[in-house]
Amino acid sequence: MADGDITKDLMYGAVAPDDFESMLELDRYGARSTAFDKIISATHDHFWDPLDPKYIDFATPFDMENEAMLPEELQPMLKLPYVAETLADPKQRIAFINHMQLWNFSSILHGEQGALNLSASLCHVLKDQGAQEYAANQTREEARHVTAFAKYIKARWGRPVECGAALKSLLTEIIEAPEVYKKIIGMQMLVEGLAMGAFANGYKHNRDPLAKRLFQLVMTDEAFHHKFGKIWADRTVPMMTEAERNIVEDWAAHCAQSLLFNQGSPLQQQVIYGTFGLDPERVMADVVARRRTRDPNRKMRGETNVFRVLIKTLLKAGLITDRTRGFYAMYVDMEELAAEGDRMVGDEIAEDGIRFLQAINFRDRAGVAVAAE
Ligand SMILES: [Fe+2]
Ligand SMILES: [Fe+2]
Repeated sequence: MADGDITKDLMYGAVAPDDFESMLELDRYGARSTAFDKIISATHDHFWDPLDPKYIDFATPFDMENEAMLPEELQPMLKLPYVAETLADPKQRIAFINHMQLWNFSSILHGEQGALNLSASLCHVLKDQGAQEYAANQTREEARHVTAFAKYIKARWGRPVECGAALKSLLTEIIEAPEVYKKIIGMQMLVEGLAMGAFANGYKHNRDPLAKRLFQLVMTDEAFHHKFGKIWADRTVPMMTEAERNIVEDWAAHCAQSLLFNQGSPLQQQVIYGTFGLDPERVMADVVARRRTRDPNRKMRGETNVFRVLIKTLLKAGLITDRTRGFYAMYVDMEELAAEGDRMVGDEIAEDGIRFLQAINFRDRAGVAVAAE
């Protein structure tokens, strides 16, 4: 059996990316699943347009020179002795915090481009028209995210920085993979899950009102994308044979590892450290030294800790068994995670955002009706 066949549910039934002929089967047209209809029609409620200032105004000012986008305590690198000595001047520290945000926003931008291509690729492999319509809708939403983050970076820094090597290879791997489970786990569950955590954090702590608005608008869409992955896992994972589940579990651990442990490494962020005359190797040495002084039993905490969000997603989906549990347990308290409810971090922020959008979209709809008379 080919790996691509691990779907176990008609709604997620898949064909090879180059098998267009299967799409022309006559019986397929009458068998459209209604499972995603609610998510599909909800897109109208949370419609927004990054080019329309009534949703988001990219001319909103922010004093990049004198104001740090994040409070200093949220940039742990500044506490490393080597970094602290080099960046003694408060203005330099502000510049460092804000430049690190350029790295983060650029990673988000590249991730959004990955999500656009990935969801477009789902249209070619998912066989059900309802699932295809969902994927096409997501593609359109990811396209507005690319536009919005590109505009934000342009407004604040002028130009993005290169995609980090770990993120780039993961995105390339999942977009080019023909297996639908690799796409759905890699993107819908992990990258989208990580994004929800990162956006919730940004919404909470970023002092730039434009960034806050942007995060909230994007989250109104992303909350649904993550749900699509969760529905897949709920329907698929319990039906798998042990051998299949092992394959999927290993894939999830592989993706988690590249996202968790490589993406934030100073060695990948030469472009940022170099700007401040900092040697990434020395920064890394400080990070390793700091790790040694910490309690090895110390775990990641906080609802919006992105790593925790990511591991929780896999745990709740049944994709962490005794085979891989030890790997994740080094970083988070697995018992504590298992006891938590199913609510996804950022759901409340997304719901507030949807109410904001409904108010604008509802007002507009009345206007359109009058104009059409
Ligand atoms: Fe997105
Ligand atoms: Fe998304």
